[in-house]
Amino acid sequence: MLLLSLFFAVIFAIAVKGCVSSGDSGAAASDHDPRVFNLELKSDRRPPVLNERFIETYLQTFGYLRNESGHDTSEVENSKEKLVNALKSFQQFMGIPGTGEVDAQTSGLMMRKRCGNADIHPSSETLGLWKKNVLTWNITHFPKTVKESDLREQLHQAFAAWEIVISMDFVEVDRADKSDIVISFEDSENDWQRDPTHLTIARASGPISSRVWISADEHWGTNNELEQTGTDLFNVLVHEIGHVLGMRHSPDSGSMMHPLFERTMNQQRPIVTSDDVERLRNLYNVGSQDVEKQPENDATSLNETTSNNNCPKIIQSATNAPDGRWLVFKEDKVWQTLNHTVMTPPIEIFQVLPSAPTYVNASATVGDLMVLISDRQIFGYRQTKRNGQFEPAEGYPKELHSRVLFYPEAAFPLANGSIILLSDNVFATYDLENNAPTFLNDKNVYFPNLPENLISGIPQDAGSDNVYWMFTDTDIYEYDARIQQILNSESYTTFFTCDFVKTFNN
Ligand SMILES: *[C@@H]1O[C@H](CO)[C@@H](O)[C@H](O)[C@H]1NC(C)=O
Ligand SMILES: *[C@@H]1O[C@H](CO)[C@@H](O)[C@H](O)[C@H]1NC(C)=O
Ligand SMILES: *[C@@H]1O[C@H](CO)[C@@H](O)[C@H](O)[C@H]1NC(C)=O
Ligand SMILES: *[C@@H]1O[C@H](CO)[C@@H](O)[C@H](O)[C@H]1NC(C)=O
Ligand SMILES: *[C@@H]1O[C@H](CO)[C@@H](O)[C@H](O)[C@H]1NC(C)=O
Ligand SMILES: *[C@@H]1O[C@H](CO)[C@@H](O)[C@H](O)[C@H]1NC(C)=O
Ligand SMILES: [Zn+2]
Repeated sequence: MLLLSLFFAVIFAIAVKGCVSSGDSGAAASDHDPRVFNLELKSDRRPPVLNERFIETYLQTFGYLRNESGHDTSEVENSKEKLVNALKSFQQFMGIPGTGEVDAQTSGLMMRKRCGNADIHPSSETLGLWKKNVLTWNITHFPKTVKESDLREQLHQAFAAWEIVISMDFVEVDRADKSDIVISFEDSENDWQRDPTHLTIARASGPISSRVWISADEHWGTNNELEQTGTDLFNVLVHEIGHVLGMRHSPDSGSMMHPLFERTMNQQRPIVTSDDVERLRNLYNVGSQDVEKQPENDATSLNETTSNNNCPKIIQSATNAPDGRWLVFKEDKVWQTLNHTVMTPPIEIFQVLPSAPTYVNASATVGDLMVLISDRQIFGYRQTKRNGQFEPAEGYPKELHSRVLFYPEAAFPLANGSIILLSDNVFATYDLENNAPTFLNDKNVYFPNLPENLISGIPQDAGSDNVYWMFTDTDIYEYDARIQQILNSESYTTFFTCDFVKTFNN
């Protein structure tokens, strides 16, 4: 513990140096102990001490670390590991090396003013969406430091930034209680900040009834006199309206949906990136061809039922978690399904599986161990009994044994605990415990009649290898391994029920 604190203190000293040179003005150091250094960069609401406690609070507040109150002594080791994993997720989100240590880059990012919404959301958290395309807004409290006309101008531009992405109109009304979006500038001393790190200067709730809170005592910069004079109000407005529409944070630091609002001197003002555009259109299932079309009437042009990009159509891998849900991978995203039902829109793999690879070539689950293979790395996960969160399994990631000469394109488990890895016409029986293949041979000899271009297999009865769900990129098959025959096939579009966007009514 002592060692760890010392470590943080040393790193903190480095971090402070880094901040000063990155162009922030007005830093003043108390000259002795770096741990009581009071950061005065642009405001006095900086974390006074960047210690282990602060880091844990930060990671909890912004969704990287589950807030568990259990203080079992046997879990101290466990919770330290969780903290390191959470730190890695933070580093991954911020696009810096995932060292699991609070290095200068990490602490520099952790001290920036930011949006109060979480970066990582529990997989059970579903998104609401607006069911109409005219939204009303009202400002209940104005900021002291920005002229009302300037604010309106900025706000109109901020709404327009999203209006061109999807067909949504924003109309100002003079009654807060009749308004879809209520915007207020309030002192951060008021409890809206709800952030023990005090770094939050704005936050917003999503559909169906949105509140946007923005700090009234921030020194807001408008227009082009940005960095020298304060935090860019336009950036914050566009960002929070993004949340109003249902968007979440983007790891892309060039995106308006990046959670950190403070930029360094030479960093460009963020934009609505093409990825933001795609994410928002996918949320509302509007293809790019729909954009020019004028909405016909108030409530129906956002059609959730047609051509849903949020639902699995083409996939790269799939496996069953120990608790029975399926994880369905495509590129850097994962769906979670249960009993044929897609439970969430696709989210980044690492949001479900800490320290996960950015793509999955093959996956399989034996007992309570789930493995993902990315190129030649094997990542292992287990689920906690308490809340079903995934945790990296001990000893993973591992390198695939060198005797497997191919890069696995598919995998499925056997009942005895080995997994089958495949590529084209060869397969290996792989013993996960010893991390070595036990048998290599021709696929068509031992597993005839498997679907062409197989990618994954899930036993229909856990722990049995009689009948499998077998997956290709677009279809799912029932395969009976005893008679080595396909029984049925179906495309993912009909196999999965995918109507989570319809579960919200206005
Ligand atoms: C975590 O939980 C504890 C105990 O319930 C609470 O005091 C603390 O404020 C919580 N922290 C966060 C960041 O929610
Ligand atoms: C917003 O609503 C409040 C309360 O209903 C009202 O007092 C205020 O005038 C409205 N703001 C504007 C700019 O119309
Ligand atoms: C929405 O999709 C359904 C089903 O395809 C279709 O019947 C309906 O006309 C569509 N509505 C709009 C407004 O596009
Ligand atoms: C799975 O879905 C079917 C059909 O909707 C339903 O009858 C069955 O009870 C569900 N099973 C579970 C375990 O939820
Ligand atoms: C693994 O997936 C990546 C990303 O989709 C792909 O580029 C690579 O070719 C895949 N490897 C194999 C062996 O299929
Ligand atoms: C499981 O069975 C396969 C084939 O029957 C065999 O090659 C493999 O070694 C077995 N694995 C274990 C762990 O016994
Ligand atoms: Zn945000």
